[in-house]
Amino acid sequence: MRTDDPRPIRLKDYTPPAFAIAEVTLDIELDPKATRVHTTLKMERNPHSTDRVAPLALDGEKLKLLEVKIDGEVLGRNRYSLSDTQLLIHEVPEGGFTLETVATCAPEENTALEGLYLSNGIYCTQCEAEGFRRITYYPDRPDVMSVFRTRITGDRKATPVLLSNGNPVKSGKTKDGRHFVEWHDPFPKPSYLFALVAGDLAQVEDRFTTMSGREVTLRIFVEKGNEDRCAYAMEALKRAMKWDEERFGREYDLDIFMIVAVSAFNMGAMENKGLNVFNDKYILARPDTATDADYAAIEAIIAHEYFHNWTGNRITCRDWFQLCLKEGLTVFRDQEFTSDMRSRAVKRISDVRLLRAHQFPEDGGPLAHPVRPDSYIEINNFYTATVYEKGAELCRMIHTMAGPKRFRKGMDLYFERHDGEAATVENFLDALAEGAKLDLSQFKRWYEQSGTPEVLASGRYDAARKTYTLKMSQVCQPTPGQRVKQPYHVPVAIGLVGPDGKDMPLTLDGEEKPGAKTRVLHLTEREATWRFRDVKEKPVPSLLRGFTAPVKLNANLKERDFVFLMRHDSDSFNRWEAAQRYATGLLAGMVETVKAGGSPRKGTGFAGMVRDILRAKKTDPEFAAQIVLLPSEQALAQIIGKDVDVDAIHDAREILRVSIAVEAKDALLDCYNRMEVKAAYSPDAEQAGRRALRNTCLAYLAAAPDGDGVALAAEQFRRADNMTDKIAAITVLSNIDCSEREEALAAFHDQWKSDHLVMDKWFTIQALSYLPGTLAEVKRLTGHPAFTMKNPNKVRSLIGSFANANQLRFHDAKGAGYRFVADKVLELDRLNPQVAARMLGAFKSWRQMEPKRRKLMQAELKRIVGVEGLSRDVFEIASKTLA
Ligand code: TRP
Ligand code: ZN
Repeated sequence: MRTDDPRPIRLKDYTPPAFAIAEVTLDIELDPKATRVHTTLKMERNPHSTDRVAPLALDGEKLKLLEVKIDGEVLGRNRYSLSDTQLLIHEVPEGGFTLETVATCAPEENTALEGLYLSNGIYCTQCEAEGFRRITYYPDRPDVMSVFRTRITGDRKATPVLLSNGNPVKSGKTKDGRHFVEWHDPFPKPSYLFALVAGDLAQVEDRFTTMSGREVTLRIFVEKGNEDRCAYAMEALKRAMKWDEERFGREYDLDIFMIVAVSAFNMGAMENKGLNVFNDKYILARPDTATDADYAAIEAIIAHEYFHNWTGNRITCRDWFQLCLKEGLTVFRDQEFTSDMRSRAVKRISDVRLLRAHQFPEDGGPLAHPVRPDSYIEINNFYTATVYEKGAELCRMIHTMAGPKRFRKGMDLYFERHDGEAATVENFLDALAEGAKLDLSQFKRWYEQSGTPEVLASGRYDAARKTYTLKMSQVCQPTPGQRVKQPYHVPVAIGLVGPDGKDMPLTLDGEEKPGAKTRVLHLTEREATWRFRDVKEKPVPSLLRGFTAPVKLNANLKERDFVFLMRHDSDSFNRWEAAQRYATGLLAGMVETVKAGGSPRKGTGFAGMVRDILRAKKTDPEFAAQIVLLPSEQALAQIIGKDVDVDAIHDAREILRVSIAVEAKDALLDCYNRMEVKAAYSPDAEQAGRRALRNTCLAYLAAAPDGDGVALAAEQFRRADNMTDKIAAITVLSNIDCSEREEALAAFHDQWKSDHLVMDKWFTIQALSYLPGTLAEVKRLTGHPAFTMKNPNKVRSLIGSFANANQLRFHDAKGAGYRFVADKVLELDRLNPQVAARMLGAFKSWRQMEPKRRKLMQAELKRIVGVEGLSRDVFEIASKTLA
């Protein structure tokens, strides 16, 4: 480490804040170059602090301090010290006092998109996690909660709309021809939930009546001209509000709920109290501009941010180590919402897919950290798949163990006990244990240990005694900083499927009455055995039904068991899982053959299954679309795990795809025709499912060498009246070197060149292409007029997609892909460290690659860490990835 390397923050060093703030008044005068913020804090020493003499420390970054006053008296330069990150006031009066600061910041120069910035001419803020300190001097930590009054003054033409948290209380004109609005938020909140938006915005309005009969005004603000793309978001918001009342008894608490859509945003959206700010791609939708997947994401993210009002805002986090307290829980809540609105089985499959694609590699790589980390250098780097997605799995396990009724009791107790507080994971687990009557003491290890546990299962059928003995054991590999792991409490839902395809009752030795057909076993030791009696015939075990725990399961099953389960399992998740396992086994073998220079045996078994599924008229189309899909190249690389050869993986998968296309052609074509939606477009799950299956068939058909599928795709591209079918068709064409490809890309560009969200799709399609010229094309597109490094959506859609989702071309054998992405990370680091650090995640699996690529990736990482003036964000990811 260099001497000036940033030092980590540790959970064990937590101490309560030295000062409490009873009330905050912000007086903000907007100006792109120098916004002036006059802050008044009513403060006193925190009675819960153990340090009675600590100086008053306020965070502040990229601010110009103009004045400091205590109780109205201006402080001389000797009364405080000032650094790049802190204002330290050496002595303050005993008892209560009023601190005033005046400082300016420069929104126009803010490319990091933290604090106050301009997004396409609109003032907006992003304060989570530590952005408020770029607006004013403040103890910027979530356990300092206060009531905010905000007065915003701005130009009447440029900023007719002036918004902040809570309720508007006063507005008017100023003497110099500007205008102002005052806002009051009655709920005490931490600074990270503060928000301000100002601009010339259009709005769409609706109403919602809460379960206790209160009327709430709902407003969505967008850039002018986008009013016709808000309807779906508004309906989704009302569904979310209703669902939270019914499922969790949670009602909205202010008179007004506002959402603003902006085009420059670091993440998906932000749950600021009463004023959610969204990346506009998660609000704006019209059938001709948004895909079914976009609609589904909008519904889920609207719900997620809305649900934060209780899990995050009313009950917030004591410190950033507790991030999963709000994020894991809120993801679990939004997953449940989506499951109730759409197909539960399909939602579970896509959540597990996501977990395996992002969280498992994180847990198995150099950046592994517990769901509740115990140290960080830059907190922005910890908004991870582990905190969010694994965090949600932990809540789901508690839900599984308690059952819905007792889980609700636990949640009720949590809300009752901690409303208005900044809480910890311990608070949550205590409330759930007590309310749901569970012992969660061993379960807590899930929050503290990193790594994905592996569960090994083996069963033995005794035909003479009619018993089935199931043995399960668990291990967890060492992860950085954690060599030894204690056993986890793993809930495993299981079933035993008889030869007739039906579930058998599960009755343990010693039990009198026949048991249920799906039961949850609790694996708490390193190894345990269960014996079931009255098992009439030899069963096939269906383990980890519904994926009840985030583990890697090895059930010692044979190929024929997977074939059996994928046809018969009553648990739809495990039907899908069996198909995936079967295809993965097949592909792993094919990859070996390709690597050895042979030509692999083709997977007729899988093609047969595809044919059967497509012909089975009663299968839900959306589920069918999932089950016939092959594991992605990335998923295969994960499973292979070492000496990864991306070319062999690509080739093997293509060989299998082609063989399915050829062998199942009639069924694919028939299904393609049958699934056509004749009614007017609607984004509902039923129609979306038909389109998903139809477009999956199209992708297979286009893989066949006869060229019929390509013609079909070109035809679909021309005729489609909705973005889902357009994108599916152009994606298929983008992987094939043909004139139809160029025609489609040009036509798409001409139609949508002035629509920034649709242009993002155009960039992504090209960045994901299998064709060998893709890297050159991506480089060329960075010069396209619609592309800019200053907009995160542009960076993600072009460079991020290439680095994270185009395994074949990013891992160019000569390292040109690595070099390009590393250069872009460095360029971006000077503008937006948060997004730069995320892009660097593409390098996290470097150790799994075959030796040549491993060295090339390592060299790029080393080059990055050696750069002078790196942000904390990029430094932390690069150095930990190399370690
Ligand atoms: N709390 C936000 C969410 O889950 C995410 C978030 C964290 C965020 N940091 C951010 C959003 C920075 C935008 C920018 O929903
Ligand atoms: Zn969240």
